[in-house]
Amino acid sequence: MASATDARYGQKESTDQNFDYMFKILIIGNSSVGKTSFLFRYADDSFTPAFVSTVGIDFKVKTIYRNDKRIKLQIWDTAGQERYRTITTAYYRGAMGFILMYDITNEESFNCVQDWSTQIKTYSWDNAQVLLAGNKCDMEDERIVAGDRGRQLADQLGFEFFETSAKDNINVKQTFERLVDIICEKMSETTDGSDPNAAGPKVGPSLTEQPQRSHQDCAC
Ligand code: GTP
Ligand code: MG
Repeated sequence: MASATDARYGQKESTDQNFDYMFKILIIGNSSVGKTSFLFRYADDSFTPAFVSTVGIDFKVKTIYRNDKRIKLQIWDTAGQERYRTITTAYYRGAMGFILMYDITNEESFNCVQDWSTQIKTYSWDNAQVLLAGNKCDMEDERIVAGDRGRQLADQLGFEFFETSAKDNINVKQTFERLVDIICEKMSETTDGSDPNAAGPKVGPSLTEQPQRSHQDCAC
């Protein structure tokens, strides 16, 4: 049986022996910052320079070993374009972790981080963990957002921070693994050191649940 912790942090699927936990992770941020590229690099180890803007939402699954557990990651790639915001925020509530991405060559994408953070607070669980990623760090010559600014903002928002490159495969795996680790840390904090596999009801929300609050447009 799954525990109350599972209810908050992901379902422990007793019917599927291939993994111990399933974590739902969302990648969010302005259009063209590289969310889809980041996911493709992580899941398929591929990269394409072509820009095909995401329509709505899509996901990929990857199972990793972490802390002696097989963790199935269901990674949702959201459209950054404002017109899809109502659809994408509907998926926030079931997520245990967020990768909030901006593009280090695009000031506007960085300026919108605060708004994205507000969206997370509005639509997700209180315990959802967030990691800020400054993507396209391979484009040093076109850098507009200094690494220190990213780090400072992450500190201010209480997020961890990485600069990444989907193109050159810099910090991609590390970003996902760190996010998984902080989700696991939060999980053990909440269980107060007790057995996270202890029996209890499995009542976690499903991905198809709709947010209770009405949609508010992001300024981005
Ligand atoms: P939406 O789906 O519209 O929200 O955009 P997105 O955030 O998914 O952006 P996408 O991954 O489609 O990438 C946008 C463009 O940036 C594409 O042309 C990618 O090839 C390019 N790109 C993505 N990541 C990187 C990176 O790390 N470095 C460089 N140089 N280009 C990148
Ligand atoms: Mg995309």
